[in-house]
Amino acid sequence: MLRPATIVGILSALSLSACSVQEASNRADSIALEGTKRGASKSWNPNTWQPPAVDSTPDDPYEVSVYRGLAILTHTRDSLPTYAPSSLNCTSCHLDEGRRPNAAPLAGVMARYPRYIDRVNAVIPIEDRINYCFTRSLAGSRLPPDSREMQDLVAYFAYISKGVPTGEHVRGEGMALMPKLVGDSSRGRPLFTNNCARCHGPDGRGMGTIPALWGGKSFSIGASMARVERAASFIRHNMPFDRPGSLTDQESYDIAAYLTSMSRPDLPGKENDWPSGGAPADVPYDTKGRKSAHPIKPIPRLNAAGAVVTAPVSVLRNR
Ligand code: HEC
Ligand code: HEC
Repeated sequence: MLRPATIVGILSALSLSACSVQEASNRADSIALEGTKRGASKSWNPNTWQPPAVDSTPDDPYEVSVYRGLAILTHTRDSLPTYAPSSLNCTSCHLDEGRRPNAAPLAGVMARYPRYIDRVNAVIPIEDRINYCFTRSLAGSRLPPDSREMQDLVAYFAYISKGVPTGEHVRGEGMALMPKLVGDSSRGRPLFTNNCARCHGPDGRGMGTIPALWGGKSFSIGASMARVERAASFIRHNMPFDRPGSLTDQESYDIAAYLTSMSRPDLPGKENDWPSGGAPADVPYDTKGRKSAHPIKPIPRLNAAGAVVTAPVSVLRNR
């Protein structure tokens, strides 16, 4: 194994032709220093960092790939109808092209992978994480990791992660944790009618280009959005689309309780989630050692075989 001093030596030697000895050793020192404090970076400021804009007139293969990745993210159904059969696109949840805080932003995502995910109890690459959203959030089929489309998505994510040091976190990453409240679906129903039905339809099945919230064309039972607390957070910060932030925490929970009690596409293999136990209390299906407190009746999946993403073997599995 290389010790920090050896690494500094190698880096200074390699850099000699490009710049002065002094510059090279300064840079090598700071790299070695960062390496000692896991993830720490002196110049990184999550409050001022912005993901770069995408060039809409791409003129080299890399820019074309980034641009195609963005197009697939925003027009998933039209671009990949056999993989994305629901009414949702990736940007139905990852709002503003994956840039909006508290709407599971994808900006900076490349700094977070490979990553350990407790739901599968394994360290997974970004392609697997993307396929969880294809199979769970879009109730679709997994995209081959070596396909051009997958690599275009990865290129876009890498592009909008520019400048985020490995292991660092962006502002509003994921979706903010909600205070622990209990949602009431009987209160949620009229709140839904008054605040959501005009866009998502009176029966929640979507209208025009606006995606469904339940039913056969919505996200699957295995999506994070199918959990009350996660849905409440998304709603609290992002919905109604034209008046985000206008609902209280309790109202968001009540609406979330209503929409997560509805039927939606199944996820084959969902009983294997959290293989070591410890699933969150609001997961709407039974997992190891835990009967769901809010079970729902799933709608059978047509594309069952394509909906399973096999987890990589992890050192932690089967322990
Ligand atoms: C129904 C809503 C929904 C849809 C649609 C959706 N996602 Fe997600 N996605 C989520 C949620 C929720 C998370 C988890 C965020 C967190 O870590 O808290 C997530 C996480 C991710 C992550 C990991 C982010 C991180 O910070 O670790 C990636 C990558 C991703 N999604 C890609 C996609 C892609 C590509 C598509 C389209 C094929 C898509 N998502 C569609 C809800 C959705
Ligand atoms: C003004 C129209 C409008 C209203 C009102 C509205 N939404 Fe949405 N909602 C949208 C749009 C549009 C999207 C997809 C965002 C995109 O494609 O950029 C969306 C996405 C969503 C999503 C994620 C995608 C999906 O279909 O699951 C959820 C969940 C959601 N809305 C819930 C609600 C709830 C709950 C309410 C009421 C509190 C609500 N919305 C009110 C327009 C609206």
